[in-house]
Amino acid sequence: MPKPRVFKLKRDSIVITGESIDNLARYVKSNKLFIITDSNVYAHHAQRFPKGLVHVIQPGEKSKSLDEALVVYHWLLDYGADRHSFILGIGGGVVCDLAGFVASTFMRGLNFGFVATSLLAQVDASVGGKNGINIDGYKNIVGTFNLPKFTICDTDLLSTLPPSERSNGFAEIVKHTLIADQKMFWYIEQNVTKLKEFNEKLLRKLVEHSISIKARVVKIDEKEEGIRKVLNLGHTWGHAVEKVSGISHGNAVSIGIEFDARLSNRMGVLSEADYLRVVNILTSLGLPVYSSACPTLLFEALTKDKKKAVDSIDLTLLNGIGSVRIERVSLNYLKSLVLG
Ligand SMILES: NC(=O)c1ccc[n+]([C@@H]2O[C@H](COP(=O)([O-])OP(=O)(O)OC[C@H]3O[C@@H](n4cnc5c(N)ncnc54)[C@H](O)[C@@H]3O)[C@@H](O)[C@H]2O)c1
Repeated sequence: MPKPRVFKLKRDSIVITGESIDNLARYVKSNKLFIITDSNVYAHHAQRFPKGLVHVIQPGEKSKSLDEALVVYHWLLDYGADRHSFILGIGGGVVCDLAGFVASTFMRGLNFGFVATSLLAQVDASVGGKNGINIDGYKNIVGTFNLPKFTICDTDLLSTLPPSERSNGFAEIVKHTLIADQKMFWYIEQNVTKLKEFNEKLLRKLVEHSISIKARVVKIDEKEEGIRKVLNLGHTWGHAVEKVSGISHGNAVSIGIEFDARLSNRMGVLSEADYLRVVNILTSLGLPVYSSACPTLLFEALTKDKKKAVDSIDLTLLNGIGSVRIERVSLNYLKSLVLG
């Protein structure tokens, strides 16, 4: 096992890489432990869970719902959870979002932590304290900003991740390099094959890299009042694609990144050469860059995004590889881009 590395988001909120799920007892400061997980993670890793009550949800986006939250609230009540209880989410982004949401709202907030088990959760979803659930397919439309006490990213757990889930995490890794690190983008370009093979040393390096970038931004702007918006690169269009077509989050984000890169190119801020590098890296990592969903439905979903103002929306555009800006783009302009 590599040496643990600790990223501090706030005085009492840390993300630890290179740490084993077997050392959870060091971090959970309660003997009333309520664990939320999904059935895939449970099937592979239950024997390594710490002692506590376990609630197992169905895997997948449908579980990020008010209905499922209600089931969990009842479970907590039935088993006597109180304000000294601790909620531990062990799973991918769906489990982390649901567990964080329930923990933040039950009895006005219990302490909670995560063990992130998917690549996407390790590089993004479990970091930063956004805990959202969906309503009618509208992503994360109800939720909280509330940081977990800890997130453990144990890359050993990724060995059981189905190959189809790997590329989802790649999309968020690429996003972080596009936002802030040209050199790491280039490094990934040179190591695409190794990354697709899930080389463990490389994965650990990239998990730490993504966390370091996200932690740096979240520390400055926890509630997304300013700079944190840069992390939404690919996510506004991506969420519309996810809602309309039902594809996985990481795949939809990849399509969203292409959209933001194309928009940046059309608006004259991103060169054609850099736009093509963005498309190339995504496709070479096995990610899609276009959606075949109905453009009218996609545009309609876009207009319901949380970030929409009256007739415009704040989007993260690329100045180049490793540099972004927030731009208010009119819905009319976007409509012409989407509907032609
Ligand atoms: N809160 C945030 O800041 C944030 C950021 C990015 C994404 N998200 C959310 O995260 C979700 C996507 O996360 P995800 O891609 O992890 O999806 P997920 O949680 O659905 O996990 C993907 C699949 O992998 C399985 N799985 C997870 N870990 C496994 C393991 N170690 N072994 C075997 N199977 C495993 C799960 O059971 C599931 O079938 C979306 O809902 C997205 O909105 C949230």
